[in-house]
Amino acid sequence: AITPVILCGGSGTRLWPLSRKSFPKQFVPLIDGKSLLQLTLERVAHISPEARTNTLCVAAEDHRFLVAEAMHAASVGTSVILEPCARNTAAAMALAALQAQPQDLLLFCPADHHIPDAAAFTAMVQQGCAAATAGAIVTFGVVPSFPSTAYGYIQRGALNAEGHSSQVARFIEKPTADKAQQLLLQGDVLWNAGIFLVQAQVLIKALHAHAPDILQSCREAMVGASQDQSFIRPEAAAFTTCRAESIDYAVLEQHANVAVVPFSGAWSDVGSWNAVANLTPPDNEGNRIDGQGLALQASNTYIHAPHRPVVALGTQDLLIIDTPDALLVATSSHAEQVKQVVARLESQQ
Ligand code: GDD
Ligand code: MG
Repeated sequence: AITPVILCGGSGTRLWPLSRKSFPKQFVPLIDGKSLLQLTLERVAHISPEARTNTLCVAAEDHRFLVAEAMHAASVGTSVILEPCARNTAAAMALAALQAQPQDLLLFCPADHHIPDAAAFTAMVQQGCAAATAGAIVTFGVVPSFPSTAYGYIQRGALNAEGHSSQVARFIEKPTADKAQQLLLQGDVLWNAGIFLVQAQVLIKALHAHAPDILQSCREAMVGASQDQSFIRPEAAAFTTCRAESIDYAVLEQHANVAVVPFSGAWSDVGSWNAVANLTPPDNEGNRIDGQGLALQASNTYIHAPHRPVVALGTQDLLIIDTPDALLVATSSHAEQVKQVVARLESQQ
């Protein structure tokens, strides 16, 4: 059976001021009153009846009640591994692999993606099972629509004998704009969807080969872990010494046996305000309004206004995000730079 593992420890700084340290974007109700984490849990529950009872979350200690609440809302459960501090995805995935049985097929899912078609998602996962059972780290690839610098790229190699997956010829994590452009021209590249299917023992071996220090810190942390009902707490001193690195840089770029299954369904990493804006249908001028916004003589203006009227007059290509205690006004082309705003505000405190 597949064990879904939801990675929900990200900080989502590009969605400031909606996403905050104490309440990151994956917990914010964004679509029909549901959070992306709840929607992710509901999506994995669609895979098999077991997924309702064996799903594991890896999250920050500070967010334990937000995770428990989302699991309850989605009627999905078992355990939550609580990290005392964030050490990026290689460490979070290592903790889950060490907690699982060696033969378990782990389906790692980011908590912050929007994939509206659960049936297509399930079909995609099933297509990866043969390669994962045979010992590959299976990735899922989305056909790129523009030269994004926010995603990893996967260059496809030969089709595997079972017919659903290909070997990965090359993995290129977050290229520069020039490189991304070049990759698109070259063709046969896919965006890494950030979803991985791998046997626990295969991931542990790969970490041992490419990032032995990360595996060692996580092993010590799990040996000293404590459990309190459904919360598993890795030992803090050992985990704190762990190197912070993403799985993409720590393992995928180095590993030989990586496979990719193409995904043709709708997929979005709800990573920036442009991506959030795209969840709301546009009017004839390309304006998108959430809540009490009003855009007059405007075009391509997005207004997020859940609390009070917010009016844009004569604006173009603008993002306006209103919250009770902070307001963001940015041009659409600056959406990726919101991260820097948060760093700047933090340094001023
Ligand atoms: N538990 C835990 N702990 N989860 C974490 C941590 C951590 O320290 N850091 C990140 N996560 C979670 C995030 O909440 C998110 O759900 C997922 O892991 C991926 O992390 P991101 O920080 O969102 O990664 P990314 O979007 O920059 O890049 C990855 O995803 C892209 C697709 O969305 C890479 O895999 C790219 O190659 C890929 O294209
Ligand atoms: Mg992401």
